[in-house]
Amino acid sequence: MAVTTQQIGQWKQQGRAIVALTAWDFALATVLDEAGVDLILIGDSLAMVALGYNTTLPITLDEMVHHAKAVRRGVQRALLVCDLPFMTYQESVQQALQSAGRLLKEAGVQAVKLEGGNPIAVETVTRLVQVGIPVMGHVGLTPQSVHRLGYRQQGTSLPAGEEILAEAIALEQAGAFAIVLEHIPSELAQHITQKLSIPTIGIGAGRYCDGQVLVTADLLGLSARQPPFAKAYVNLRETITGAVQAFAQEVGDRAFPEE
Ligand code: KIV
Ligand code: NA
Repeated sequence: MAVTTQQIGQWKQQGRAIVALTAWDFALATVLDEAGVDLILIGDSLAMVALGYNTTLPITLDEMVHHAKAVRRGVQRALLVCDLPFMTYQESVQQALQSAGRLLKEAGVQAVKLEGGNPIAVETVTRLVQVGIPVMGHVGLTPQSVHRLGYRQQGTSLPAGEEILAEAIALEQAGAFAIVLEHIPSELAQHITQKLSIPTIGIGAGRYCDGQVLVTADLLGLSARQPPFAKAYVNLRETITGAVQAFAQEVGDRAFPEE
């Protein structure tokens, strides 16, 4: 049975942890989906991990549509959510509707994610939800604001924490079905998780969120650099290097292919 936004909400009530990961192409998507990942995010982090940009800012909506289509072809069960890239939703509500509409119509994703919880973002979420587009919020460290915030942990002072809590509450009231909490103190994430009736999905936000997400390149040990809160469960850079060297050796020795 395919995962729905409603089901994600019920899992919070039942205390069942939500497992989320990012994907950027067909092959990876099939593996994650078959492994039982609940929510697959076509995160704009693919700008960095798959396209080699230094930040997430340069990626375009066309590029996100391209990757989302590839991921879509590989996913049968997981809920598919796609990031709205930088400056494809901040200009106006109309721009956000057009951009999100393309991701649903052309790429077939079920929901979109956008960063921030200021009044403009909240109004945007309200309108997207009104027309039938489920939205996942994202507060705390929002990488599209790297030039303002850096990649530092957010919400470390009491007022800053209160502000993130207020943003999360406003996003819930606007109709968001879930919220990513990125790189904030564990106690703050726990407090927000208790205050909200929609699920929180943490990344660098401690163990008390309703679910966890990682950038899959970090989990696989594929990223050239990874954030301090990421955990590599395997070192694929090493594994791939070994395989490539074995191939090179056999080609050099004329041992592959065999007769
Ligand atoms: O782009 C991304 O990978 C994300 C996750 C870190 C939540 O937004
Ligand atoms: Na993102």
